[in-house]
Amino acid sequence: MEKPGRILTGHRPTGPRHIGHLVGTLETWAALQDQYECFFLIADLHVLTTDFEHPQNIQGNILDVLADWIASGIDPDRSTLILQSAVTAHSQLTTLLGMLVSVARLSRVPTYKEQLQQLGLTPSLGLLAYPVLQAADILLYKADRVPVGEDQLPHLELTREIARRFNQLYGETFPEPQEILSSTPRLPGTDNRTMHTSYGNAIALRDTPEVTYHKVMSMYTDPSRIHANDPGHVEGNPVFAYHEVFNPDPEQVTEFKERYRQGKIGDVEVKRRLAEVLNERLSPIRKRRAELLKDPETLRELLKAGTDRARPLAEATLAEVEKKIGLLR
Ligand code: TRP
Repeated sequence: MEKPGRILTGHRPTGPRHIGHLVGTLETWAALQDQYECFFLIADLHVLTTDFEHPQNIQGNILDVLADWIASGIDPDRSTLILQSAVTAHSQLTTLLGMLVSVARLSRVPTYKEQLQQLGLTPSLGLLAYPVLQAADILLYKADRVPVGEDQLPHLELTREIARRFNQLYGETFPEPQEILSSTPRLPGTDNRTMHTSYGNAIALRDTPEVTYHKVMSMYTDPSRIHANDPGHVEGNPVFAYHEVFNPDPEQVTEFKERYRQGKIGDVEVKRRLAEVLNERLSPIRKRRAELLKDPETLRELLKAGTDRARPLAEATLAEVEKKIGLLR
């Protein structure tokens, strides 16, 4: 069956995925598989742009991400899973596209400025070129649509600029890829900051029911509420944000909210129920990921099979680009 377009998206393998990835990203990706030809990239080279000092973590993180993806509904038979570093065309196209972007343009990319500030990193060439590598990821497969979070929009804008510039200079080659933004609002962390594994405020898909329970019971709620019979705030309260997403019974959520506003229900009861619904939802995913990780060899083979399917497509685009740029082939 001919599908209406091609999707490419990916994650940096920085460790196990969390519930923010599940509802913001992975469920969206899984649904897109019905409509589009999908490529899902494990962007291991992108990890190195900020974290090149822990070689011992990379392979384990790749397997963790892969197991979480598949357990969340990414289907390696219908979609193509790619290990970025194993298709050298990603690096080669990055070099060539790098000629079309100015250093000044790259220095203004918001993620670059944020990383430098937050991580206190010395600006490296690799980090500056991060969005060029991402453009290469997308353009190599001539993807039409890229499902991403808001934070990635500047990278996609740059990808379109590069595609336009290339097409102008050398003739029509690349589609200008459009984003697909998730309709689910971003889930806050358990402390109400942005959810981030490194902030210690994430609930991982691999967390046990006990760990999940404890994380939920110690969640940030309404700081102005001291006693269970004080009227509470539901807005800006991550416990209710989670109920909205994970509680299968919307009437119960409405009832909890009303009682909370009136000071007629305690945080403990609302949280206990949240831990229950979360554990019910995560239980099949946990089982599946644990099974997958029992046999890492098979997981690696799945990734290799996808990567081997992707490589000829990437190499064909690279050859086309080299020829148009005037390099011999
Ligand atoms: N930069 C993306 C992120 O941090 C990961 C990524 C790498 C990506 N290559 C991509 C996303 C290509 C979409 C398309 O989330």
